Formats: sequence, structure tokens, C-alpha cells
Amino acid sequence: MNEQVQPSEINAAGHLTIGGVDTLELAEQFGTPLVVYDVAAIRDQIRRFKKVFEDNDVDYEVSYASKAFSSVAIYQVMKEEGAHTDVVSGGELTTAIKAGFPMDKVSFHGNNKSLAELKLAVDHHVGMIMLDNFHEIDLLNQVLEEADTSADVMLRITPGISAHAHKYDQTGQVDSKFGFDVDSGQADKALQKVLANPRLRMHGLHGHIGSQIFELEGFELAAKKLIDIAAHWQEAFGYTAEIVNVGGGFGIKYVASDKPLRPEQFVDAIVKTIKKTAQEKGLPLPEIWIEPGRSIVGPAGYNLYTVGSRKDVPGLKPYVTIDGGMGDNIRPALYQAKYETVLARDPQAKPVETVRLAGKYCESGDIMAEAQPLPATKAGDVLVTLDTGAYGYAMASNYNRNPRPAVVFAENGKASLVIKRESYADLIHLDLPYNG
Ligand code: LLP
Repeated sequence: MNEQVQPSEINAAGHLTIGGVDTLELAEQFGTPLVVYDVAAIRDQIRRFKKVFEDNDVDYEVSYASKAFSSVAIYQVMKEEGAHTDVVSGGELTTAIKAGFPMDKVSFHGNNKSLAELKLAVDHHVGMIMLDNFHEIDLLNQVLEEADTSADVMLRITPGISAHAHKYDQTGQVDSKFGFDVDSGQADKALQKVLANPRLRMHGLHGHIGSQIFELEGFELAAKKLIDIAAHWQEAFGYTAEIVNVGGGFGIKYVASDKPLRPEQFVDAIVKTIKKTAQEKGLPLPEIWIEPGRSIVGPAGYNLYTVGSRKDVPGLKPYVTIDGGMGDNIRPALYQAKYETVLARDPQAKPVETVRLAGKYCESGDIMAEAQPLPATKAGDVLVTLDTGAYGYAMASNYNRNPRPAVVFAENGKASLVIKRESYADLIHLDLPYNG
């Protein structure tokens, strides 16, 4: 019995459905490997986040961290849901522009934004530039002077909190490439520099402690720390922060052994901590912003694959190979991430063997699961890996010159192609002959 598959997701034929669409039909119509999103699940999670703030009666923004999955279609959904979005590159920003996403609801992050990226952001009147370092303050000032305009900014600080997550996902500890350090006085210096510049309108501070975090404690500590800094800024510089942005990082359940709280429970604890600390410090309650990525799109995403070759060696776990792998989901190879995978035609079928689920890429490390329980499978069967919606397609590559998969949005029984499958022509269209 797979806990991640709800009875309501299985249709009369016994097949797994996504957004009311049969996964075998999706595979047939669009081919595999295929990425499919359940759009209602995305909307539902945003609404749950919003409800926490409404119930706590605070001013807020839910800003979708679009590095988890960026496409024209997802920005359209965010627009429909009235969410903000956070972009981290000129590419993500350009995608949001193409989607007609309101630019005043965009925050621009990044620890090395280029002059060209800052120009793009200023030209399009991006709502908030999250200043990360002194070099960037100078670059932005240059852009603003040239355009004779001003910008809304916040300071990203390093809260100095180490969350219990995979080490690559820890961004809040002191030794981090992101944000201004607090204890050494960098953050204070940055604040003074921003306040002294009439082209920069300072709105508050931002701290993000990491990703796929299960413990409440790190978030509560970070929230308290941000308010402590805001109180210090008020006392030392007479500056009152209007906005405190606590970032994202709310962990999700990938496999049965993961036991996270619901994402909105993390947010409730953060909001309560901020309210309490602000009151203790005599600070007016700031607007509270969050930047969830994974928790919005992760559980809503599915990767569909077709089974191909199989290798059985006596005494060894068999290899069952799919038509995708590290090119469409690098997370197992990069982070040893684990997922649940089910058979599309019978998602609750009893496993009869434990196999190594191998990808098709020319690399021994391209193993999607080291120990995947599976019912009997044969070539041509469709497998569905669950909860792949965050940092899957977003981190896809053309390794081995394999085309990236198509992406489909499914909602109310209807499937819409939102990113075309790459063709071989797409793969080579940037190549030029060498005439040296
Ligand atoms: N805000 C900031 C400033 C961030 O750096 C991130 C993620 C988020 C929000 C969203 O965090 P989330 O809610 O998605 O956890 N590729 C890695 C994850 C890298 C996360 C980077 N920053 C993975 O696949 O696990």
C-alpha cells in the first residue's frame, strides 16, 4: 500500500490518474519521459499558505520560489492565485515577463546578479530587488543612475542558523555565499549604505535557512533572529523594517519514512514567533513574506517513464531501466534523494521484487532508486515517480544529448501541454560548424 497514492487518484480501470487524467493516456498522448503537474494541488497549497496568514490576521505575501519550477504556465497559475514570485536569473525573469506576470509582484534574488540582469529588472520595474552583497549595491546604483530612477530593495542577511538538512541545502549558516553576515557588522554597513542612497527604497530584511527542512526549531530561531536584527536596526539607526521575509525550505514527504509537518504548520509557527518577538521588542508587526518552492510544486509533480531493458545477474539486484534518468531528475544522483515509484496501470500492486531502477544515461551513478520494490514489470510498462515537481525539470540537462521531456498540466480531467518535448533539431540549433 503506497501512502502517497490516494484512492481518489485511481480510476475505474485501476490506473493512476493525475488531475483526473489517466496516466496511461498521458504517456500514450505525449510520450515518455514526461513531467506532469496536478494543477489543483498547486493551487491548494498556495491557498493553504494564505489561510495561515489570514487566520493569524497579519499582512503577508506568499512568494513562489520559481527556481523549483519555472515556466510560462506556472507563472500564469501564480498570477491567477494572486501569489508573488521570486526569480533568481534573467532567464526566470524573462519567462515571467512572457507569462504576463505582474512585475510589481516579483522579487529578484541571486548572489551575483549581473549588470545586464539588474538592467532587465529595473527596465521592467521588478517589485523588489533582494540585495545580497556590496558589489551588487554598487551595480544597482550604476543602473539606477543611468536610468535616472529608483528601486525597491530589501537586504538578504545570513541568519547564522544551520538547519538540519542535506549539507548542500544549508544556506543560513554563517559560512555561506548568500547574504550579508550579521555578527561581523556587514549587515549594519549594508543598511547604512542603502539608507544613504536616495535611489534605494529600503523595505526590510530577508533570511532563508535552507531547503527540505523538517524541524520547526530552525525556522523559529531564524524568525526570532530576523526580528532581533530589525529591533537592533530600529534602535541603532532609527530604521523600522516594514517587511520580514523568512524564505522557504518547508520539507515535504518523498518516501514513507519522511515525516514532515504540513508546510502550513511551519508557517503558522513562524508567524506566531514573529508576532510574539515583535511584541516583546516593541516593534510594529512587519508584513511577513514566505518564499516556498518545493512545498508548492514538489508534491504536485510526477515523472512518467517507460520501462525498457532489464539486466539480471544471479545473486545481484536486477537492473530495470527506464527511458529517462539523471537528465530529467538529477536529484537521486546529486543528493541521494529518494522517491516512490509506482506502476501506472496498478499503482497499489503488491511488490514482488526489489530492483535497481536505472536511468538511461551513460554513467553508473545514474540510478533513480537503489532499492525499488516493484510488482512484475515488462518492457513497455509505464512507471510513475511521485513528488518530482520541485527541482526536477528545473535542473534538467541535455547530458548525452538527450532531449528534455515535455511538461503537461492536468486539471479537472484535462491535460494541456505547457512545455514541448525537445526535438533533436532543438538540441543542435545552437551548434555552428567549425571553419577554423
Ligand atoms: N528562497 C530562497 C532565497 C532560496 O534560496 C530558496 C531555495 C527558496 C526560497 C525555496 O526553497 P524551497 O521552499 O524550495 O525549499 N536544488 C535543491 C534545492 C535548492 C534550494 C535553493 N534555494 C534540491 O533539489 O533539493
